[in-house]
Amino acid sequence: MKLRNKAAALLLLALAALLLAGLSLRARRAAAPAPLARPASAPPRRPAPAPARLPGPGALPGAGQSARRRRPPRPRPRGSRRGAASLKKLARRPGELRSFQAVLPPELWIHLAVVACGNRLEETLVMLKSAVLFSHRKMKFHIFTEDSLKPEFDKQLRQWPDSYTKKFEYRIYPITFSVGNPQEWKKLFKPCAAQRLFLPVILKDVDSLLYVDTDVLFLRPVDDIWKLLRQFNSTQLAAMAPEHEIPKIGWYSRFARHPFYGSAGVNSGVMLMNLTRIRSAQFKNSMIPTGLAWEDMLYPLYQKYKNAITWGDQDLLNIIFYFNPECLYVFPCQWNYRPDHCMYGSNCRAAEREGVSVLHGNRGVYHDEKQPTFKALYEAIRDFPFQDNLFQSMYYPLQLKFLETVHTLCGRIPQVFLKQIEKTMKRAYEKHVIIHVGPNQRR
Ligand SMILES: *[C@@H]1O[C@H](CO)[C@@H](O)[C@H](O)[C@H]1NC(C)=O
Ligand SMILES: *[C@@H]1O[C@H](CO)[C@@H](O)[C@H](O)[C@H]1NC(C)=O
Repeated sequence: MKLRNKAAALLLLALAALLLAGLSLRARRAAAPAPLARPASAPPRRPAPAPARLPGPGALPGAGQSARRRRPPRPRPRGSRRGAASLKKLARRPGELRSFQAVLPPELWIHLAVVACGNRLEETLVMLKSAVLFSHRKMKFHIFTEDSLKPEFDKQLRQWPDSYTKKFEYRIYPITFSVGNPQEWKKLFKPCAAQRLFLPVILKDVDSLLYVDTDVLFLRPVDDIWKLLRQFNSTQLAAMAPEHEIPKIGWYSRFARHPFYGSAGVNSGVMLMNLTRIRSAQFKNSMIPTGLAWEDMLYPLYQKYKNAITWGDQDLLNIIFYFNPECLYVFPCQWNYRPDHCMYGSNCRAAEREGVSVLHGNRGVYHDEKQPTFKALYEAIRDFPFQDNLFQSMYYPLQLKFLETVHTLCGRIPQVFLKQIEKTMKRAYEKHVIIHVGPNQRR
């Protein structure tokens, strides 16, 4: 009797697994990139990536997920994280997106900061759009901008469809500098760029933050880069990618007249910061032997090096982490992929392997003709109508545009640019199919 029960249970499980596998196969087949063909079972004109249930970090759709749930929970490395972990479990409970958001406490949100001045309004909105399109967890945007741009930010962000606006909250801040001479800070590098140095001081209630330049695009969920914060060891408090992969042709290694991190420096266009740690750390420096708090160090450091620095606040960050290398987590170039990584030939190994995760179109390449691959991605995200099918209205047009870029060095490696974004869209699409079709089929 017992045995038969067990056998029956096993059979049921196997059937369920088969059903789920079948469904995810269907989804995959439907989403297979066949240029300009609408995926067979794609529901037309519906918000594609609006998961009804919050997936766990990196969760796979379908059969994988049900298999995961049976596994015993992994041991948590730190006791203090237990509370957060159980809250997370609560948040993962199946149900409406709305109820999940009522449950997800603010300390589990992703915080994204950007500083937008001058003519960077559109670029910033496209960056935020890329974050909203693909991410799972609720986000808080901290937008630092000139007073004249605030109304337009408000207006445009409110025009996005509900299914997306409920994934984030935002706050707009004026440009302020807490120490030193504001005019001097504003002139440093480009208007407002120095603002990012003051984020730990201004955002006192925020534990951790992802800062990005306005010319950054997320080609996969922001959740994925956010997870790197958890990989910090006990001394690390910020994370950036190298400025260059090959020191021999890097800018810092050839021209810098000030100390810089590592062999080629770091790029500050995509920067993870544990603000709690930054606020409490004492930083070694070349001015006084005892160490200084972040806020007390910035202005003296600037005064000391201002005649030697070229790239403004990024140089200051390089100087800071030169003296405090144990504080920096260096992530691979696929998280901050720039024209430098392909315009002289491909030199970002991580992106060759896994595809670009975060694109950084610096030097204005979204707005001129110098790097058409970068521009194609920018325009594809900018022009995507929120409610359309991702494959139909973004991925296939993008593939076509890439065909016109093969004459450039970056255009010769389309798979590097397309691999992650294709994977991201497939996941968003599969989740949609499984959640909206799945329950009906099982009934
Ligand atoms: C940031 O650091 C603080 C202090 O070490 C820690 O409690 C917190 O969990 C860290 N935040 C993240 C997101 O890892
Ligand atoms: C953390 O990692 C950095 C970089 O690898 C290293 O320099 C530092 O010593 C590490 N800290 C600890 C406490 O292991």
